Amino acid sequence: MRKILAVVLALVMVFGLVACGSGSSGSTGGAKTYKVGVAIYQYNDNFMTLYRQEIENYFKTLETDSVKYEITMVDSKNDMAEQTNQVDTFITQKMDVIILNLVQTSSAEVLIDKIVAADIPLVLINREPLGETDESYPGIINNPKVCYVGADARQSGTYQGEIVRDLPNHGDMNGNGTIDYVMIEGDPENPDAQYRTEYSIKALTDAGLEVNCLADQIGNWDQAKGNEIADAALAQFGDQIDVIFCNNDGMALGAAAAIEKAGRKVGEDILLLGVDALDECVEKVNNGTMTGTVLNDHVGQSHTAVDVAVKLLNGEAIDNYYWVDYVKVTKQ
Ligand code: GAL
Repeated sequence: MRKILAVVLALVMVFGLVACGSGSSGSTGGAKTYKVGVAIYQYNDNFMTLYRQEIENYFKTLETDSVKYEITMVDSKNDMAEQTNQVDTFITQKMDVIILNLVQTSSAEVLIDKIVAADIPLVLINREPLGETDESYPGIINNPKVCYVGADARQSGTYQGEIVRDLPNHGDMNGNGTIDYVMIEGDPENPDAQYRTEYSIKALTDAGLEVNCLADQIGNWDQAKGNEIADAALAQFGDQIDVIFCNNDGMALGAAAAIEKAGRKVGEDILLLGVDALDECVEKVNNGTMTGTVLNDHVGQSHTAVDVAVKLLNGEAIDNYYWVDYVKVTKQ
């Protein structure tokens, strides 16, 4: 009996060792490690911080004993030359897949071409390169290993406008017959900024409402810039301002501080809209210091981007475009 036990133990040990050994060797049926390169246009961005953290978290949840993901994530510091170097390095390092949040969509073609030439699958996120007709980008469509994952910014703009349209006074806070607004924009070459600016106002004019643009300034998604622009507009236009539209919540946080400093009251004599649904802004919507925001679903977008990256790693067929819906956020 003892002998049998000893043999069984010995066998268990041998198999145990074999199992351990195979776990660390990629080529003999053990864990396969995929190298994933991720370049983010700028770490210093509220929304992209949530997004990039979720990319890392979600990749971890997909790891198994046999599949690992080695993520190399870099900050492109809002500098296109820096990002081009980072992509060159990813190519030299022979990444198995690249996830790219472009600094400039106008540089899409150069980067897509390089990555495709190196036969590395590519998932573009957040900043959509547009074709000449504002639609599908030639470098993406019909390319079996390139796709874009994002949200249709027209929808977010429309939702901002609809929130104002649906108020009892349709946004005419001072009762002069027009919706006098200030627009605070993201970076000018970003379709998210262009479409949100256009479609927020379109939702009002489509409803037959009169609008008047008092000021339209570039805040580059930045809280401090949003604060400066709102501060100056409130000083210049005072009670004439009915609505401050911000292309994102970061800038709306800055505008909210300027509104408070000017002694104005959101919901009583002025309205304030953002996009992203940052936690701080959802709180403000609920306590009445912001009129509304629009959920930019960083969880849905990051998970879709990672899922499609995994499909590409597995050699599965993909679509060229993946869209995640925005959701209106008003006081609960
Ligand atoms: C937008 C987002 C902004 C900013 C921008 C960066 O979708 O609403 O807050 O993160 O992306 O490209």
